[in-house]
Amino acid sequence: MTSPQQHLTIAVIGLGSIGGVVAGCLAAAGRHEVIACVRRPLDRLTLEQPQGAVEVKLAAFTDPARVEKPADWVLLCTKTHETESAAPWFERLCTSQTRVAVLQNGIGHVERVAPLTRGATVLPVIVYYNGERLSPDHVRLRQGFDRDIAVADDEAGRDFARLFDGTPLRVRTSSEFAALVWQKLLINAVANPITTLTLQRQAVLRRPDVQELCRRILNEAVAVGRAEGIALADDAGERALATLFCFSGELGTSMYFDRLAGRQLEVEALTGAIVAAADRHGVPTPLNRALLTLLRAINDAAAAGKPP
Ligand SMILES: NC(=O)c1ccc[n+]([C@@H]2O[C@H](COP(=O)([O-])OP(=O)(O)OC[C@H]3O[C@@H](n4cnc5c(N)ncnc54)[C@H](OP(=O)(O)O)[C@@H]3O)[C@@H](O)[C@H]2O)c1
Repeated sequence: MTSPQQHLTIAVIGLGSIGGVVAGCLAAAGRHEVIACVRRPLDRLTLEQPQGAVEVKLAAFTDPARVEKPADWVLLCTKTHETESAAPWFERLCTSQTRVAVLQNGIGHVERVAPLTRGATVLPVIVYYNGERLSPDHVRLRQGFDRDIAVADDEAGRDFARLFDGTPLRVRTSSEFAALVWQKLLINAVANPITTLTLQRQAVLRRPDVQELCRRILNEAVAVGRAEGIALADDAGERALATLFCFSGELGTSMYFDRLAGRQLEVEALTGAIVAAADRHGVPTPLNRALLTLLRAINDAAAAGKPP
């Protein structure tokens, strides 16, 4: 079992908005050896956090072949559709003793990642903080929820939480983790597609007609979650909307920013996962299916290099 006092090796794959923040927080705390697995060279990172900005030195690798030893922990912080591209990192970093924490939105973390990780334990993680990459070596942490990260309340989850002792990131363990994953999915299932399709920030969700559409999209998704055996409350959809309305309408979503930048969208792990689960259980989801068709069309255009 991992002891919190041990000096562990933690590899962070992908130093974007989320990975930059976790790598910066862990490196600044100085309790563990942090290795950054990146596609572009980097030797230091500036982290803006509520307590002020810190600059940390990072040991970064751009070539998996240069990694000399397996890691105790690997934190996967790529977008969901970039997961397979991380396979060469897992090849070097993982043994059956390694734990791989997947800091990605959506569902199906274990199914997506476990085939790549050489028998390592895979741990789904819900991220609540807002990360923003201001430049390749500069990230900002914003804390809008009462916790920053959630994991299951099991041995791996508790060990993961201890990695963040001494950092500003508040990790909560939950015995109702599967429901939390779906509650986060519900938020993403409306905010991301609607801001992306309308090319408007979250203020668009406050329009009465859009709110009504959101409710119907959420009702479908809640029915799917329940068919999957997830204990979602009757007001789970309303709570997702209420959570969204706590935030400024000026905020975008990651899918919205990805569309503006002509990047691939995280469609399959969000709306795609809802529709796939609906198909498994025979639950009708015409609105989510329509969103999925439109988002896939945007993704195909982005892949073909067509501007948004
Ligand atoms: N941003 C948020 O506030 C937020 C909040 C909650 C959840 N999430 C979720 O967290 C996950 C990560 O999102 P993000 O916003 O951090 O995305 P991001 O800013 O696009 O960062 C992803 C990073 O992964 C890197 N990467 C991709 N493939 C790689 C590979 N094979 N090897 C090394 N690095 C690789 C990218 O490198 P390049 O720089 O070279 O492209 C990029 O730096 C997503 O599932 C997202 O939905 C995000």
